[in-house]
Amino acid sequence: MTAYAIPPIDPLRISFSAAHGTMTPEGPLLTRRMSDVAGLFADEDARRRAADGDDPVVYTVAASPVPEAAGELPQSLTTILPGAVSGEFHMTKGHMHPDPQGEIYLGLSGRGGVLMYDGTRTEWIEMEPGMIGYIPPGWAHRSVNVGDEPYRFLAVYPGSAGHDYGWVVEHGMGRRVYRDGASYTLAPFSAAG
Ligand SMILES: [Fe+2]
Repeated sequence: MTAYAIPPIDPLRISFSAAHGTMTPEGPLLTRRMSDVAGLFADEDARRRAADGDDPVVYTVAASPVPEAAGELPQSLTTILPGAVSGEFHMTKGHMHPDPQGEIYLGLSGRGGVLMYDGTRTEWIEMEPGMIGYIPPGWAHRSVNVGDEPYRFLAVYPGSAGHDYGWVVEHGMGRRVYRDGASYTLAPFSAAG
């Protein structure tokens, strides 16, 4: 028998809803409102005004019950609500995996993209229902809703990969994604101010 540091969970069937962003059975649910994302958008004053106003939800992450443990493959379903701060589209905080391992995103609904940054190069993958976005090891990743409806994707990632949000705060993501008419444009990264 294989010796595990943490015993694996039992086989599991999980249903997920592309229409509602839920997983059943459900694990932890993370909700990030405008007041939770200080410093995320370039226009920090506009973000603060929105947080002091109706404090809208920027995104939610519904996890399955599969634990973030070595050997397991946890999943989460992220919903980024449509909207922008001074033209900069709603996005996730973004993170680097402290343990360099890959991850896949499967587009479920809406229109979005994955912004990736390795400290030098920036890559952008457009996402829509039916697309797999592949994030190789060593690339920080952030998701952006560039449409006018909720953008949802399912993430599957190694349980020991971890989430280093500080790396993105320190290094940025290379680009910012702004509304441009009915589409979007990638602008050079600028610090929040
Ligand atoms: Fe990740």
